Amino acid sequence: MLIRVPPSSRALESEVTPESVYLSRRKLMQGSLALAAMAAMPGWARAEAQGAYADVEPAKAPGWFDEKLAHAHWQAITAEGESITPFKDATHYNNFYEFGTGKGDPAANAGKLQVEPWTVMVDGEVGKPGRYSIEDLVKPHAFEERIYRLRCVEAWSMVIPWLGFPLADLLKQVEPTSAARYVRFETLVDREHMPGQRSGFSLIDWPYVEGLRLDEAMHPLAFMVVGMYGRVLPNQNGAPLRLVVPWKYGFKSIKSIVRISLVDEAPKTTWERIAPNEYGFYANVNPQVDHPRWSQATERRLPSGLFSPNVIDTRMFNGYEEVADLYAGMDLARYY
Ligand code: MTE
Repeated sequence: MLIRVPPSSRALESEVTPESVYLSRRKLMQGSLALAAMAAMPGWARAEAQGAYADVEPAKAPGWFDEKLAHAHWQAITAEGESITPFKDATHYNNFYEFGTGKGDPAANAGKLQVEPWTVMVDGEVGKPGRYSIEDLVKPHAFEERIYRLRCVEAWSMVIPWLGFPLADLLKQVEPTSAARYVRFETLVDREHMPGQRSGFSLIDWPYVEGLRLDEAMHPLAFMVVGMYGRVLPNQNGAPLRLVVPWKYGFKSIKSIVRISLVDEAPKTTWERIAPNEYGFYANVNPQVDHPRWSQATERRLPSGLFSPNVIDTRMFNGYEEVADLYAGMDLARYY
């Protein structure tokens, strides 16, 4: 079932940045900017002017990425009135337990992961099963930039400009059968390059697994991500292919995907298996349903510090109310 995204979350045609403007913007930003001119700019350009890219070297992108980037639809979805999180925070404060449990561990340890070549096994209830190269999976889809809020269940959040294409388009490409009711995703297992998977103390039964109901997966906001901040996805953020589901807690947004299965029963997901009373299958952002050990009513918008904690109210579905119809009639305190 496809549900139309209300026009409010679509950028106006006039806000969409043509590629030539985007590419030359960096130069423009180096000059001094009048405040009035800054206020009139799209949020993405403002973020750059605010120093979102300070001190960051771009990673080398594979050919399939560069070809698509040239035709990307910039700012296809924006986050009205929100500042974009600096690139440095988004790439150095991460959860990726395969590389360790510390927030800095993914940036420190993920560099050696081989993300080229990369294949994704598509199986289960699909008309076109098989092992797809990332090139073949991405080829039919145009890139879009979507600026989404990311709300972690740990009560911090960021605003990130992702690059990718709708998950619904990938699913249509592999043709789910009428028996498919859920989508199951699996992350790579690579004990040699993922030190967290070698740890004897890990609670996680690898691989990391996530899942969505098929109608959630087909919602236009559910997004397959291959890049961020106009660049190829860094390893610590889930290269080369991850999911981003902006209305759900961040743990649903599984990284470094190697398998996508269409199944008829709800898959057992990683965090649900570890602590079912704390982490549910749905994991919709909901300020009225607290985690058993902390409140979910507010969040720390990063960057935040002791003297500027930057605490804001958490919004139902992380502010993406257009997904509410997916849960009509459901008790969201029970199906958390
Ligand atoms: N995917 C895998 N494979 N392993 C993980 O540990 N952590 C999740 C999610 N995806 C995780 C994962 C959690 S808890 C969050 S909040 C987000 O990734 C964080 O994404 P980011 O590091 O890009 O901000």
